[in-house]
Amino acid sequence: MMKAATSAPGKVILFGEHFVVYDRPAIVSAIHLRARIEAWIHDQPGVWIGSRRLVNHPASRAIEYVFEKAGFTSGVTLKISSSIPSSVGLGSSASIAVASAGTASLITLGRIDEELVKLAAGEGEKIIHFNPSGIDTSTALYGGGGLYTRSRGFTPIEIPLKKILIIDTGKTRKTGEMVKRVKEFMEKNKERFDKILKREEELIEEALDAFRSLDLERLGRLMLENQSLLREVGVSSLEIEEAVKIALDAGAYGAKLTGAGGGGCVICLADEDRIEGISKIISNRFKVYLTELSADGLREEKI
Ligand code: MEV
Repeated sequence: MMKAATSAPGKVILFGEHFVVYDRPAIVSAIHLRARIEAWIHDQPGVWIGSRRLVNHPASRAIEYVFEKAGFTSGVTLKISSSIPSSVGLGSSASIAVASAGTASLITLGRIDEELVKLAAGEGEKIIHFNPSGIDTSTALYGGGGLYTRSRGFTPIEIPLKKILIIDTGKTRKTGEMVKRVKEFMEKNKERFDKILKREEELIEEALDAFRSLDLERLGRLMLENQSLLREVGVSSLEIEEAVKIALDAGAYGAKLTGAGGGGCVICLADEDRIEGISKIISNRFKVYLTELSADGLREEKI
């Protein structure tokens, strides 16, 4: 194809971020905020935005990987548009990497090769991540809800929640640094870290059970416990703690950081009929997104 476009969703991790790096399960959902990548063939090799060559970027790395595998020697010009805020835990770079690889797959093969896209997006993610588990790129690729483990990959699951409230603390941070922070905690507190991993694994089982019985109160309590484990390993922050407190005071069942932490976003669980009111209260202090869950994964878009 001479030109193509795809889009991929952002994500929220409902339970299990960071511990997923150590091959424990996490529950994740794609959200209705998306990145769109349009590309058309350029006469010079490389990935271009206008007259600037894009290098060392998740988009260019993912595209170059697809081109290398397909033996494609021309270049492309890109147009990136995204409604996912960056560096706040919603998977913006993963969705850009996945949509870039998807568009490159359409240009070179005329179809989306999911296995190739997954590998290419993983290479793109490595540029900004430290030891990525693959949860962000898998969710952007497959969409919906999922139970993810590093060794077994993405298993689709039904998430019986329509919407989730996302609180943006306004503080950006680097995922790689937060993952390193947890590694340091692990190295200094090996025995305690093993216990935390074990508890997190049980907590995921309990959360799956609470999903099945639609027990939001129990899910809220589990979220708060997950938040306290994340706090203990050093990835909460003053802003996150403040957002969690405001959410609970406003009537949410539970709240926790989502993604890498250290700032970024907090998710907040509430009854569907109260969620708009709670959102209004929180918006006096923080920016909020009321977003739908279980969004479509990577898909071709019209140009
Ligand atoms: C980032 O969205 C999730 C982390 O668990 C890192 C990873 O899994 O690659 C913090």
